[in-house]
Amino acid sequence: MNNHKIRHLIEPEDFTLEELNEVVALGKKMYEAPAEYKRACEGKILATLFYEPSTRTRFSFETAMLRLGGSIIGFSDANTSSVSKGESIADTIRCMSAYADIAVMRHPKEGAPKLASHYASIPIINGGDGGHQHPTQTLTDLLTIKMYKETIEGHTVAFCGDLKFGRTVHSLIRTLARYNTKKFILISPEELTLPDTLKRSLKQDFDVELQEARYIEDVISEIDILYMTRIQKERFFNEADYARLKDSYLLNQSKLSHAKKDMIVMHPLPRVNEIAYDVDDDPRGVYFKQAELGVYARMALITKLLGVDVSC
Ligand code: CP
Repeated sequence: MNNHKIRHLIEPEDFTLEELNEVVALGKKMYEAPAEYKRACEGKILATLFYEPSTRTRFSFETAMLRLGGSIIGFSDANTSSVSKGESIADTIRCMSAYADIAVMRHPKEGAPKLASHYASIPIINGGDGGHQHPTQTLTDLLTIKMYKETIEGHTVAFCGDLKFGRTVHSLIRTLARYNTKKFILISPEELTLPDTLKRSLKQDFDVELQEARYIEDVISEIDILYMTRIQKERFFNEADYARLKDSYLLNQSKLSHAKKDMIVMHPLPRVNEIAYDVDDDPRGVYFKQAELGVYARMALITKLLGVDVSC
C-alpha cells in the first residue's frame, strides 16, 4: 500500500511558503542536473486533460514527466473524448484515476479542477481554470525570479495588460505578496483593471502598496520585474471590445531604454502584440527562458505530489 496522502494543487495557497520554496529549490537542482532525475518517476503515468488550448503548460508537463522517466496519456481536445457525449467531469476523473497516477487539467470554467479533485483518487493539478488561477505558471514564475534576481522577496513588481481576466496575474500577485513584496504597479486600461476583490484582499492581508498606472512609460524606471500579459480575445464577450483594447500596450526598445539595467521582462506567453521582437535579444527579456524553466518547476511539482524521494 502507498501511504502517501493525496495532495492537489488547485491554487498557490494550497502550498505553504516553505513548500513553494522546496519546489523552487528542487526545480533549480533539476535544471542544473536533469540527468540525475531521469528514473525518478519510472512506472508512473501523467494524464493531461486539456479542455482548452495550450502550448507551454501541456507540453512542458509532458516533457517534465518524460524527463522523469514516466509516461503520459491524455487529450488536448476534449471532443475526442467522451466529454463530447456529455460525460461529466466527475465521471471522467473517476475513470482517469484508475488509468493514471497524477493528472493536470485545464478548463475554461473557473473551479473545474477543484471539482475534479473532489472525485479523484490521484493528485489533481490545475493547469489553468478560466480567468481564475494558474498555479503552475506561478511556480514557473517563482523559479524564474529566483534564477534571475536571486531572491523572490523585496522587488517592485509591475503587471501590465489584462489584469482583470489574467489568471497568471491573479495567482502570482497574491503569491508575491506572501513573499513580502512591498510594491506592485498595476498597468492596465480602465476596463481591464485588477478585480476589486483581489485589490481589497491584497491590502487587507498584506502590508503592500498598490499603484495604478495607465502607461508603461510613466512608471518603467521604477520597476524591478515587469510582468507583461496579453489582452485575451477568448475572455471577451464581444469582438468590438477586444478590437478596441487589443493594442493597448507595446513594450519596445525605445521604452526599455528608460528601464533599470537589471530589470527583467517576464511574460507567461503566448504574446500577441505586446512585446516587440526587438526586445527578444535584450538580456532583460527572459520570457523564453521562463517557458523553458516551466519544465523544471513542473518536474519538481510532479515528484512532490507523487511523494517520490528525490533526496539523492
Ligand atoms: N503560459 C501558458 O499557460 O501558456 P499556454 O496557454 O500555452 O499553456
